Amino acid sequence: MHLLWLHRWLAFDKGIFMTTISRLLKYVLGYKLLLFIAICCILIVSGCSLTFPWLIKGLLEDALNKRDLFQLNIILGIALMVAIIQAVSQYTHSFIMNYIGQRVLFVLRNQIFEHLTHLSMKFHKDSRCGELISRTINDVNVLQNLIISGAAVLIKSPFILIGGICIIFYIHWKLALLTMVIAPLIAVAIVQIGKRMRQITHQIQEKMADVTNILQETISGIAIVKLFCAEGIESKRFFEENKGYFHLYLKGIKLMVISGPLVWLIGIAGMLLVVWYGGYEVSHERLTAGALMSFMAYLLTVSRPIQDFSQANILIQQAIAASQRIFELLDTRLTVEEAIDAEEMSDVKGTEGIKEREGERETEGNIEGREGRISRGRIEFEGVSFVYDDKPVLCGINLTIEPGEVLALVGPSGGGKTTLVSLIPRLYDPTVGTIKIDERDIRGVTLKSLRRQIGIVPQHTILFSGSIASNIAYSQPDASMEEIIEAAMTANAHNFITHLPSGYDTPIGEHGVRLSGGERQRIAIARALLKKPGILILDEATASLDTESENLIQSALFRIMHQQTTIIIAHRLSTIIRADRIVTISEGNIVEIGTHDELLSSGGLYKRLYEVQFEAIG
Ligand SMILES: Nc1ncnc2c1ncn2[C@@H]1O[C@H](COP(=O)(O)OP(=O)(O)O)[C@@H](O)[C@H]1O
Ligand SMILES: [Mg+2]
Repeated sequence: MHLLWLHRWLAFDKGIFMTTISRLLKYVLGYKLLLFIAICCILIVSGCSLTFPWLIKGLLEDALNKRDLFQLNIILGIALMVAIIQAVSQYTHSFIMNYIGQRVLFVLRNQIFEHLTHLSMKFHKDSRCGELISRTINDVNVLQNLIISGAAVLIKSPFILIGGICIIFYIHWKLALLTMVIAPLIAVAIVQIGKRMRQITHQIQEKMADVTNILQETISGIAIVKLFCAEGIESKRFFEENKGYFHLYLKGIKLMVISGPLVWLIGIAGMLLVVWYGGYEVSHERLTAGALMSFMAYLLTVSRPIQDFSQANILIQQAIAASQRIFELLDTRLTVEEAIDAEEMSDVKGTEGIKEREGERETEGNIEGREGRISRGRIEFEGVSFVYDDKPVLCGINLTIEPGEVLALVGPSGGGKTTLVSLIPRLYDPTVGTIKIDERDIRGVTLKSLRRQIGIVPQHTILFSGSIASNIAYSQPDASMEEIIEAAMTANAHNFITHLPSGYDTPIGEHGVRLSGGERQRIAIARALLKKPGILILDEATASLDTESENLIQSALFRIMHQQTTIIIAHRLSTIIRADRIVTISEGNIVEIGTHDELLSSGGLYKRLYEVQFEAIG
């Protein structure tokens, strides 16, 4: 097929081109019957457009010259029939190709979305959100053009081209031969002008991007511009770029305004030459006037696919590039993968896990209530190291957290606290070492059953659009209203929620109510608690709150603290001193482990942090 040489013409690497095209074809080939009908229709349309010029000959010679009204009716009747057949086929193939195109896009968008949600954290941290959105939306839309118009052009053009050329040779082979000599010369000239045009347009676009960039930078940073009295500097910068654009455009304009008329002139000159020779042949009666007219009409018909082809070139280039990006995304491997023989992890907080004790909810503090703790939920880090793109973040961490223990992680920012806790639900896997929950390597259990055990309140609260209730019940959409309210009460969120206009049904997100940081955080805590997790992780959950919100959250947390293994990454002294043990982490290493008093008296990092940070706040 002509696909084989297409890659040359498009200047694509053959291997990449063929694999991309064949993968794309797989999507389309699911609709074989429809595709077959569409291709038939495209061929009919092409056939019809080759019929019209022939009718011109009949019209001139048989009807008009001979003044034969009957022939006139017949010929025009045939023309009408052909036109109707062409219109119906055109409609059918356009409709089918659009349908197939949209089906393929629908499938692709879903595939990309699903793949994106499964891709590992590492991938998401390394990619920009805007780019992922652009791949899912824009790149997929570009493909639409290829499927809808590209396919039609690729099938239609060669058919018309070859058919048309055969016919003109049949009409008058010498004239056809002359055309075949002139046409490529014209084509080469036009292509050269087009190339130069594209270069200039590209340069102009790049310059425009520079201008836009300054505009955007200045507007988005307008406060800084004003504060530093840099209006003049920015204006000058803009003026320079704008001037550059102006001059480049002027340079390009000479070529731009000449190219249209020049192409036209070359085309006409070639055409006139053909007409002259044709007229010469007519005058020697080697060709009829009607045949010459139909010959010229065929030339026009044949020039169409050539134009279409050069437009399709750009279209296909874009589409191939877009599909390469899409497939690259779809081929991205997961870095955190489930073992083939992964087993279900039984719930840490399963019925046998809790030694229920009356009045446990009221228990506060870290000494009392030990008997009320659960017996499962031990987390062990064994020689865990983690490297982020060559940068060591955690170095040989050994740490065991007992069931029901409340462990505080403290240390300078960037020390690796967030990274350490992200390893527990396997957002990342350790580069070296193992993590066990209740003696079991977490790589041996299914991700779903592992993550079901863990409730995380992340450093930055993220809520989704929807009602407050649906946000709290995010992990269990079928949770009952009682469960939702219970979680909200424990998180001290119930009160403010009931004061909202529609209570638990109040929408949040872009079109919903605006909640304060503390309120959002309490919803995030309720969301984590609704899971009744066996392991609760709070990442600086109270860091950026006002004192009142913080007190509310603190008291909420202490109420439930020993009901599960709890890891708190904290700044606030009040949170830390209530923990069973405190671990200080710095530069990926555990520096100290102990209680508040022990660490203070040992006079190490914790004492320094305490003096510098906590006293200043406290
Ligand atoms: N996506 C990432 N890519 C590269 N390095 C990262 C990434 N996220 C965190 N880090 C690095 O890992 C180290 C630990 O970060 P983090 O665990 O967030 O520390 P903490 O929570 O203690 O402030 C930091 O030095 C940070 O630069
Ligand atoms: Mg952190």
